[in-house]
Amino acid sequence: AKDMGQDLEKVLVTEEQITTRLQEMGAQIDADYAGRDLLIVGVLKGAVMVMADLARALHSPAAMDWMAVSSYGAGTSSSGVVRILKDLETDIKDRDVLIVEDVIDSGLTLSWLVGNLKSRGPKSVEICTMVRKPMAFDVDLDVRYVGFDLPNEFIVGYGLDYAERYRNLPFIGTLAPHVYEDDA
Ligand code: PRP
Ligand code: MN
Ligand code: MG
Repeated sequence: AKDMGQDLEKVLVTEEQITTRLQEMGAQIDADYAGRDLLIVGVLKGAVMVMADLARALHSPAAMDWMAVSSYGAGTSSSGVVRILKDLETDIKDRDVLIVEDVIDSGLTLSWLVGNLKSRGPKSVEICTMVRKPMAFDVDLDVRYVGFDLPNEFIVGYGLDYAERYRNLPFIGTLAPHVYEDDA
């Protein structure tokens, strides 16, 4: 297999910065949910990395469940069409739910998802995202926990993909133009 190091343009958030930020976010979530029965919901596939690391930064025995909703497919921009590919296995009625995402870009995915989960009668629904992009401010979305606010560039790594690849980079960065050009 080829080495993906040569496909990178620049690193925006290092592995160390991610680790440090997750400890801070974990402590905040521990404090906010003290004495409560937290369910963290990871949005597949992008949130796999942040779920795995955030869960281990928590000190409560939080339950974990997963949903798969896709609004992007293989492209680089949002289609606005959200589909449930895999639903929760947990009944969230009267539960404290924290949705965990890798990135909020247009905010379409989460706007839809929050509405969908709230219709199931949970006690609370909050959002935690590793990355927020500027467009997210254009939608009416209350985001409780944000790792990093980043500019509007196409980023990959730490769960974020380009055509399903580069999710496994341990940091967040941008791709060199030749990666897109080779695919065009
Ligand atoms: C990406 C990302 C978020 C969503 C954000 O998921 O992981 O879930 O898009 O975009 P938005 O704010 O513009 O809606 P995607 O649909 O690409 O699926 P994936 O997680 O499997 O990559
Ligand atoms: Mn996603
Ligand atoms: Mg994607």
